[in-house]
Amino acid sequence: SFRQHVPKGLKRPPGPRGYPILGNVLELRKDPHLVLTKLSQKYGDVMEIRIGTRPVLVLSGLDTIKQALVKQGEDFMGRPDLHSFRHVTDGQSLAFSPDSGEVWKARRKLAQNALKTFSIVPSSTSSSTCLLEEHVSKEADYLVTKFLQVMEEEKSFDPYQYLVVSVANVICAMCFGRRYDHNDQELLSMVNLNNEFGEVAANGNPADFIPVLQYLPSRTMEVFKNLNRQFSSFVQKIIQEHYASFDREHIRDITDSLIEHCQENRAGENTSIPLSSEKIINIVNDLFGAGFDTVTTALAWSLMYLALYPDIQKRIQEELDQTIGRERTPRLSDRGMLPYTEAFILEMFRHSSFLPFTIPHCTTKDTVLNGYYIPKDRCVFINQWQVNHDEKLWKDPSTFNPERFLSADGTKIERTESDKVMIFGLGKRRCIGETIGRWEVFLFLATLLQQLEFSLCAGEEVDITPQYGLTMKYKKCKCFQIKKRFPVKSSP
Ligand code: HEM
Repeated sequence: SFRQHVPKGLKRPPGPRGYPILGNVLELRKDPHLVLTKLSQKYGDVMEIRIGTRPVLVLSGLDTIKQALVKQGEDFMGRPDLHSFRHVTDGQSLAFSPDSGEVWKARRKLAQNALKTFSIVPSSTSSSTCLLEEHVSKEADYLVTKFLQVMEEEKSFDPYQYLVVSVANVICAMCFGRRYDHNDQELLSMVNLNNEFGEVAANGNPADFIPVLQYLPSRTMEVFKNLNRQFSSFVQKIIQEHYASFDREHIRDITDSLIEHCQENRAGENTSIPLSSEKIINIVNDLFGAGFDTVTTALAWSLMYLALYPDIQKRIQEELDQTIGRERTPRLSDRGMLPYTEAFILEMFRHSSFLPFTIPHCTTKDTVLNGYYIPKDRCVFINQWQVNHDEKLWKDPSTFNPERFLSADGTKIERTESDKVMIFGLGKRRCIGETIGRWEVFLFLATLLQQLEFSLCAGEEVDITPQYGLTMKYKKCKCFQIKKRFPVKSSP
């Protein structure tokens, strides 16, 4: 409906003209987050582009995005029915499927509760504050050992492949109650294909908008479908094992708690929205999938910034030495007392903006935004990168400077500043793993930095240009090096 009817007194959002049939697809071939940021400077916060023949609304500016996702949250909480998303969890994904009705709401609630119970709820059974702390401490300790071992053997290395297994182990522990060895081939073959996932699921993938492209052979699309199948069968196998050993007196992990929920459902104990067992159990697919790529990418960017800015790294380590010392390992409860470390993490989120857009949204009804008419079912891109680099919000946005988040005396985070960083989305579709994500990144980094110093091989050029995708990573970099900060205390 290119020539749609626009009600009297309202305007259609402005935007670049685009070619017939192709629309703006050629302009978007490379780095859509940068192209759309530039276009927004000309056309404004509410802009319409075309990909193929399909119109897409692009939102920029923190106030406009808040207006849409928070104040008009119901209108903008949908997900578009995109070709690639139909392959994620058999088209039933909590995050990617077009459902935004009562079933989605009930599943989101279930996911939030299960996640919380097995991560951040204060623990009664372990010596840790909560299960998340227990899992992350264990994996981070293991990672220190692994890095030292690899450094010894290789003299320089790419930390990514070790980070991804450690982070996957944390979410595996919560979802499935198990961990994997760093050499486990089944896990490695899946987690290493994740760049391909992000490439296809990215905002603006032409095949999602130009139907003819869906019938042409495409290597990335084949990899994407395979990856989703492999992912589902990996999870399916673990679910079957859980069913076989299920004991309702002893709920071990998120999978068990979802199975328990299925059984309550069948027994009619639950009076709310009826959900099929399949749609309950496969929630764990989304949690596992969303839970490792994002956090791994955050840690990979963190290590890169630390190595590129040794003075910033030193200052974090001084803060850790002063607050925690060297006699004990960091804990989640230290977070509030480490403002500089926190400022570094915020700046890493802002500067990298490694999730340049949220997952695409879609309008659920005809609506009006900033005086512009937006019809129902309009696909909407939310440009988080633009918010994090907006000259109106940030001084020298391209400079990496954690201090922008600190109060003048350096003792605390300025909430007015930290609230402007947009990386978890906003409103009804806001990330449900935000607390876990923030805490996990903090505890991994604090544990690594207490013991290790990160650097890059002298004289090597590193290319940190983000590779566009749903999550953006820099190119594989094998020239990381580490040093132990202090000798291990030898027992007498
Ligand atoms: C959705 C960011 C970690 C689970 C999202 C969205 C973003 C995001 C931008 C889309 C919001 C939107 O569409 O408006 C991040 C970042 C993370 C992180 C930056 C880490 C640093 C996690 C973790 C989990 C998780 C650890 C779970 C264990 C989800 C789920 C959704 C989601 C299930 C879909 C929500 C829905 O569609 O209703 N996240 N995330 N995320 N995230 Fe995260």
